[in-house]
Order: sequence, then C-alpha cells, then structure tokens
Amino acid sequence: MYSPSEVIYRCRRCGDLLSVEYDADLMRPETAKKWRGRSLSVWRYAELLPISDRSKIVSLGEGGTSLNRCSRLGSELGLKEVYVKNEGENPTGSFKDRGMTVGVTRALELGIKIVACASTGNTSASLAAYAARAGLECVVLIPSGKVALGKLIQAMIYGARVIQVKGNFDDALKIVEELCLTQPIYLLNSINPYRLEGQKTIAFEIWDQLDGRVPDEVIVPVGNAGNISAIWKGFRELYSMGLIDKLPRMIGIQAEGAAPIANLIKMGLKEIEFVENPETIATAIRIGSPVNWKRAVGAIKDSNGFAETISDEEILKAQRLLASYEGIFVEPAGAASIAGLIKLVKNGLVRQDDLIVCIATGHGLKDPDIVLRQFPKPVEVEADVNTLMKLLSS
Ligand code: F0G
Repeated sequence: MYSPSEVIYRCRRCGDLLSVEYDADLMRPETAKKWRGRSLSVWRYAELLPISDRSKIVSLGEGGTSLNRCSRLGSELGLKEVYVKNEGENPTGSFKDRGMTVGVTRALELGIKIVACASTGNTSASLAAYAARAGLECVVLIPSGKVALGKLIQAMIYGARVIQVKGNFDDALKIVEELCLTQPIYLLNSINPYRLEGQKTIAFEIWDQLDGRVPDEVIVPVGNAGNISAIWKGFRELYSMGLIDKLPRMIGIQAEGAAPIANLIKMGLKEIEFVENPETIATAIRIGSPVNWKRAVGAIKDSNGFAETISDEEILKAQRLLASYEGIFVEPAGAASIAGLIKLVKNGLVRQDDLIVCIATGHGLKDPDIVLRQFPKPVEVEADVNTLMKLLSS
C-alpha cells in the first residue's frame, strides 16, 4: 500500500502496476445518491475519483457520451439488444479524455510542471489538450510514421513537443518511462493508475444509461489493455457498492497482428508471448507488449469472458457497417469491438437476447486516409439538373 502523496507507478517490491483503492465507507449505495442531480460526465462520479480538491479540476467536458441502441446493426446480426457507446464524442475524440481529466488534475495537485506520454496517437492528442488547458508543458513520443494524421495534428496544435521515435509504441513507452523515473516529468500513460480511474467511468455511465441494468457482454478493443481493466474495475466497484447484483462478461478484441492477450487466452498459453513487430491498420492498437496485460487477463478470466482476434479486413468492414447502418463513424481501432461482435455471433459465442455493449473508442475523422483508400473518387457532373437526374436514374 502506498500513500497518495507519493509519485509512483509500480510496486517497489514486485514491479507490478498499482491501482487506486477507496475507503470502505465509500463503497455503499449511499455514495451513489450524491450522483443523481449531476449531469452525465466523468465528474458526476467525483466521490469515486481520487482528487481531493475539486476546485482545481482540469476539464473540457469529458464523458457523458451517448449509448446508442443499434437496432439496424442488431437485426443484421440477429441480435435483440446491441448498444454502441460512442467515445468519439469526447472533447479530443477518444476515451482517453476521461483519464486525462483526472491524470492532469493530479499533476496540478502534485505541483508538476511537465507531463509526458508515449502514444499511438489518441493519448498524445488528449494529453496535449489537457496540458494546454492546465498550462503545463507536454512531451509526447510517437512511433515514427505510424500515427493517424488527425491525431498528429491534434498534438501539434495543442502545443505539445512532438517527438517521433524510430521504433514502435512499445519502444517509445519504454524510454518515456525511463525518462520520467529520473526527471521531474509526470508520466500519463495507462501505467499511471489515476488515468484508469477516469476511464472506469465508462462502466458507471453504462449502468446509468441502462437504468441500472447490467450488460451480459461488454466488448472492448484492446491495445495497451488499460481500458478493459478500467471498465472492469468500474463494474466491480458498482458491485461492491451493492448497486448491481451481477457483472458483465468482459470481451477483449485485438487485431490479429498485435494480439498477445487474445492469443494467450484463446490458445490457453502458459505464458504471454509478446509480439515483437506488431502490425495492423488499426494503428491505435498496434501494440505488442501491453503493459496492463495482467490486469486485462484478470478482468477477462474473472468475468468469465473471453478474447478474440480480428483481421484488418474485418475491422474495415465493421467500420463501414457501423457508419452506413447507424451513422456512427469510428476509427479502425474503435470498430474492433464491432468486428469482434460479428465474429462472436458467427461462432455462436453470444446469445440472441443478450444485452450487449460495444465500446467504440475513437472518432473516425482521426484517420481519414484509411477511408479515402477504400472508396473511388466521387463522380463529377456538370452543374445542370437534367444531367444530374439522368445520373441518379442510372
Ligand atoms: N481504441 C483506441 C481508439 C485507442 O486509441 C486505444 C489506445 C485503444 C482502443 C486501446 O486501449 O490501450 O487501453 O487497451 N490507444 C493508446 C494511445 C495506446 O496511445 O492512444 P488500451
């Protein structure tokens, strides 16, 4: 057990990651009564977030994302109740904002002046924005040439120092962790337990939006494996508080070329085999050595869930399906949960009347290139209505 006054990311004895725990007297249904009058957002759940001085909160209005019932998608798949939680609606377009509002507030509390992260794009976009809002310096390390354009320009415009690392995300994370251990720079990757506290509010919001019902399955794209761990922690806390009497099965989805966790679970391996050269068009989850793998495996196993891999082709198909059937445009990594669902249906691993929630993790506009590559150039016509009508009737 470590005190909140310490800046520490790993247990000094075993090297494992740390998590935030709350006093037992908060773990009661009464705590949730305080939430009722507040709008749906990360800070609705302030009592279960590790920030003592709420006047210092660094916020851009994160959380409160919609939970869309997807009837057209559901009927296409033969499912009764499918929901998509659209995390692309967050201020910088991904779920990372939920963690950053807590993590950057924590940096202010500690009196830290510089924050840093390694990122496949969304973490850096989010950290850069929240650091700007807080007046902190920000350093982001990204894998050279492997970050979607929309995310790169976000980090730039928010004023971060953007550094490309000749290597992949795992290499970048390794060196930024080393840097932060020796310098007065605060690390805001999901190694930092405060980040995950913000992200667990995805579970709280789902519970609120479903009026207290608990999904049978929650399907989550997995990269560094922080988010699935955070969502599971959120549901477990609702359970400990006596607000729910069952837990969802956590389903983790990884891209085939970057699937150490899914391979471990699916093949029943004894030990995790990290992927040295991860590859997928879903660059957000192009990660071979997920730091949160132990927690994620715990979440999946403890919840009686499972993990699945999907191909790049399946990801792109799911991205198009979600956009064209439901009007929800997500980036490829965000579509991994939908691609996963399609595969689970095919393999008979979910029931027709299950209550299913897919987490769509990031906005589609972050990665326009991937869409442009798949569609032909739109046709061009003369500015003449007769030509237009002829074209439309053909
Ligand atoms: N989906 C998107 C859109 C992401 O950006 C990420 C992670 C994930 C899913 C996976 O979440 O790592 O918690 O398992 N992006 C990180 C980043 C790695 O740097 O932006 P995870």
